[in-house]
Parts: sequence; structure tokens; C-alpha cells
Amino acid sequence: MKKLRVAVIGLGNLGRKCAEGVVADQAMALAGIVRRSRSPASWLKAPVVTHVSDLNEVDVALICVPPDATMGVVKELLQKRIPIVECARLHGEAFLRQKSEIHRVALLHRVPAVVGAGSDPGAISLFRSHFALLVPRGHTETSLHTASSLHHTLAVEGIRGVRKALATEIKSIGGAVQRYVYVELEPAADVAGVEHAIIHDPLFLTEQTLVFPVPSIAALEETNRGVLLERRAAAGEASHSSFLLEARFDEAGLAARMMLAAARSLSMLQAGAHSVLDLPPGVLWGEQRTAAEKEWL
Ligand SMILES: NC(=O)c1ccc[n+]([C@@H]2O[C@H](COP(=O)([O-])OP(=O)(O)OC[C@H]3O[C@@H](n4cnc5c(N)ncnc54)[C@H](OP(=O)(O)O)[C@@H]3O)[C@@H](O)[C@H]2O)c1
Repeated sequence: MKKLRVAVIGLGNLGRKCAEGVVADQAMALAGIVRRSRSPASWLKAPVVTHVSDLNEVDVALICVPPDATMGVVKELLQKRIPIVECARLHGEAFLRQKSEIHRVALLHRVPAVVGAGSDPGAISLFRSHFALLVPRGHTETSLHTASSLHHTLAVEGIRGVRKALATEIKSIGGAVQRYVYVELEPAADVAGVEHAIIHDPLFLTEQTLVFPVPSIAALEETNRGVLLERRAAAGEASHSSFLLEARFDEAGLAARMMLAAARSLSMLQAGAHSVLDLPPGVLWGEQRTAAEKEWL
């Protein structure tokens, strides 16, 4: 199978994660890095150039430059008929305007492009949209937090079955304070018993407390971003459905993962700009599509 040759444009936080992701992917090869200056990236065995024309055979370019530089870079690549994936942090009207302009240029040059394919916009947007699809009459709350606001809690670490614990307080969109307590448990711990003990501890009675068992508190401390996304059916809806996503991740790492998945889909797309909502989920798996269907459906 021929490897997909990927160029990374801009070697900042996201560009580094994309380059690492490409190198680790057996179906991809790093064609090179395009930077403003030729500063070498010795940790990467790939050419570093200041112009994409200096790279051999590029099947797709991952755009990792600041949002205000994205449009210019994208247009230049599409003119050269190089398919692109971008994920500038744009939402709402600003996102639609950029998508529409990229669509126009991509159609003109008959090339596919995937837009808004990062973490948010991107992977998290897919969850948000699916939750709303499944609970059409309802309310969505999203809150972001950083792991740096997490603190150790001796009160919880004293509870039988708890190895280590971290807590954080988050203000929901409605203004109410919620406390999240992450616990790493002993193998034989009684999860429900630990949760009950935490929620009923006098220290935690004043705020709504949610308990999340995690495999490793050390790993949690290394992540830099957390999100809680909740969709609840509107009052009076008979279903009372609710969906909750609690996630912790390295933001640039997650965005890079989504960009790589989008890059796999490009060969199956028609010319024009496609958002992650336009893509059938199967195309994001590329060659692994059937295996994914077997495992995840
Ligand atoms: N959707 C998401 O979830 C998500 C997540 C993370 C990032 N992003 C987006 O990804 C992009 C990059 O983010 P980042 O955190 O990696 O930023 P960053 O660390 O500041 O890196 C951006 C890189 O772009 C290059 N650059 C800087 N100014 C430029 C200019 N005027 N023209 C062309 N290139 C320029 C530089 O690389 P060189 O020195 O190599 O030229 C710089 O290191 C942004 O558009 C951001 O919104 C989206």
C-alpha cells in the first residue's frame, strides 16, 4: 500500500504533534515541514523548507499556522492542487464564512479540503452535535477546565479503597459551582461505596460533587485540558434523556489526531470544503474502515 505523504505547515504546538503523529502512523510518511525560516527540526528525519514546492510529492498538507494566517496559506496550497486539512479555532458565523471561502477556492482548483478538524472545532464538536441530534429538545452545557486547577485532596485519599485523588471546582454555565473528584482506586475497591463516602463527606456537602474513577492520577496531572459536555432533555420531555461526556486530553494532541483522521478521508472526498459534520464517520478510518465497523458497531 502506498503511504500517504503528508506535509506539516508551521511547526508550533500543533505542528509538532501532527509531525509526531504522521511519523508514528504506518500508513503515512512525513513529506516535510514548511516553516517561515529554515530552522532545522533535528528530532524529525524530514526536510524542512520555506516553500511547499521544495518538497517531493505532497498528498496532503496539515495547516498549523495562526488563525489569521490560515486563509492565505490554504489558498496558496489549493492553487497548487494540494488537498488540505485545517482546524483554526473559529466557530459560528466566522467558521461558516471561512468554510465558504475555502469551498469556493477548492472548487475552482478541483481539490478536496477538510475544515475545522481539530479538537474544538473538531472532535468535541462531533460529540456536541450527536448529543443534540439524539436529544433534539434540550439544553447543552459545556465547561472547560485545565488540569492545573486540580488539587490533591487528603480527605478523599483517606477513604478506604482510594489510592490517590484530585479535585477541582468548576462554575457551570448557569453559575452553580460543581466539584469534580477524580479517584484512582485500589483494585478491590467498592466504586459505589467510595462515591457514596465522598459525596456525603461534610467537606463536599455544600456543592454538587461528581466522582470520576480514573486509571491513573499521575496521567491525569499530565493532561492540560478537560471538558464536561452535558445535554439534557428539556423539562416536560417524556424521555428524560441525558448524555454526559467527561474528557481529559492534551488539546494539541487531540487536534492532531483529528487532523490525521481527516487526512485519511481526503482521497474519498469530492472537491470542495467539508467540515467534520459533512464526513461519513467511516471515511475517517481510511483503510481500517471494515475493521472499525467490525469492532465498534
Ligand atoms: N481546533 C482546535 O482544537 C485547535 C487546537 C490547537 C490549535 N488549533 C489551531 O492551530 C493553529 C496553530 O496553533 P498552535 O497552538 O500550534 O500555534 P503556535 O504554537 O503559535 O504555532 C503556530 C506556528 O505557525 C507558524 N507561524 C506563526 N506566524 C505565522 C504567520 N504569520 N504566517 C505563517 N506561519 C506562521 C510558526 O511556525 P514556524 O516557526 O515553523 O513557521 C508557529 O510556530 C491555530 O490556527 C490554532 O487556532 C486548533
